[in-house]
Amino acid sequence: VHPAPIVVASNRGPVSYRRQDDGTLVAGRGGGGLVSGLGAIGTDAGAVWVCAALGEGDREAARAAGRRLDPADTGGHRVRMLDIPADTFAAAYNGIANSVLWFVHHLLYQTPLEPTFDADFRTQWAAYEAYNTAFADALAEEAAPGAAVLVQDYHLTLVPGLLRERRPDLRIGHFSHTPWAPPDYFRMLPDDVAGQVLRGILGGDRAAFLTHRWAEAFAACCAEELGAEVLRDGDGRATAVRFEERTTLLGVHGLGADADFLRRRAHEPDVAERMAALRAQIGPGRRAIVRVDRTELSKNIVRGLLAYRRLLEDRPRWRGKVVHVAFAYPSRQDLAVYRDYTATVERVAREINSAFGTEGWEPVVLHVKDDFARSLAAYRLADVALVNPVRDGMNLVAKEVPVVSDHGCALVLSREAGAAAELAEDALVVNPYDVEATARALHEALLMDPAERAERTKRLAAAATALPPARWFVDQLRALGG
Ligand code: G6P
Repeated sequence: VHPAPIVVASNRGPVSYRRQDDGTLVAGRGGGGLVSGLGAIGTDAGAVWVCAALGEGDREAARAAGRRLDPADTGGHRVRMLDIPADTFAAAYNGIANSVLWFVHHLLYQTPLEPTFDADFRTQWAAYEAYNTAFADALAEEAAPGAAVLVQDYHLTLVPGLLRERRPDLRIGHFSHTPWAPPDYFRMLPDDVAGQVLRGILGGDRAAFLTHRWAEAFAACCAEELGAEVLRDGDGRATAVRFEERTTLLGVHGLGADADFLRRRAHEPDVAERMAALRAQIGPGRRAIVRVDRTELSKNIVRGLLAYRRLLEDRPRWRGKVVHVAFAYPSRQDLAVYRDYTATVERVAREINSAFGTEGWEPVVLHVKDDFARSLAAYRLADVALVNPVRDGMNLVAKEVPVVSDHGCALVLSREAGAAAELAEDALVVNPYDVEATARALHEALLMDPAERAERTKRLAAAATALPPARWFVDQLRALGG
């Protein structure tokens, strides 16, 4: 096995394995913006992708494969899947990454008792350190002298620092696919942990983000928590953080939709089939308000449903004339709060259907089973797309819909999504907490003149594809001096 000039590390890799009832292991693809973006890693550039085994199926596959997974399963990528002990992984991924860091960066803590940092947290934090150390060890082994290493997301914040200790020759970048918390919120983490996260990322040569807003928040946390110096350009934008004799450059790389792939995929026969089925379910002549998300607290699906309910209550003209198509795909189901959230989404959808539904009209069509072809079908026929996260690193759905839309689609978009920085001009921008305002925006979107809608969609598609994933990846390598 040759050391690689480019190594990428992320928790979720391009493939996940599941043992079927008949005993065979089947490979599938994971959801989320990170994997979509990283698909752009060339399969011929000599890059190696290091990821974690997420479940039992993965662990079996990783053990059977040894150092590399079968490229037939990975879309041709050279992948090393780390067989991290199940309890260490669970504590690091479910406990720290998804229940603490994800919550902090998306400003999701709102109950009187969460978060509480106690002995359980300390055990989980030790697991997070062990899990990050396992990655750093594997990366140190995989990387050729002077190689560029691209470390991804909040699961792996300690890796840049740990890897620098092992391999000072490497060029190391960290990329955050999430928002970054403002200092007043970030400092709810125990001081030593907050410091470790920041120092971990600052151990790299670059720290990059999806938008300036998140980069600024990171710089502000470094200044407030560590007393680090923030360097700025002529426009006042943070460009680097100096801490303990080292300078870490800040970068911003917005991730766009992959136009070629989406347009091709959206016109394959399975998508056409699902369009016909969906059309029949919506009913002829009715408008469709579409949303597609992981069932994720930050995606704000429940307030979206409440806004739709408000629309039907306040503007009866839409009753019987519109259907809310909501695809909410299962995510992080090991966590009780995600399971509860899924149940709430289902309950609120049912309530709307029983309050307003009639013989021939089902106001909400909710699907909770992941189906990419069906998502594309919904994108193509949508009249309105609703993307209203309370906070989102970027949000690729907002960028994918305009690219594949058949006849133009009005976009109702949260101002708290990173994508709003690029799409605000032609979207109807809303405060995601304001259900009234979201209902009004849905009404406006439904009334939008078809010609205007088509024009806006064209401009949205151009903005959404300005930074295709391949460039996103290459730009980062270049910035690392690769
Ligand atoms: C977000 C994160 C990714 C993550 C994805 C799916 O996009 O930034 O790192 O992979 O959600 O979440 P999951 O926990 O299923 O990997």
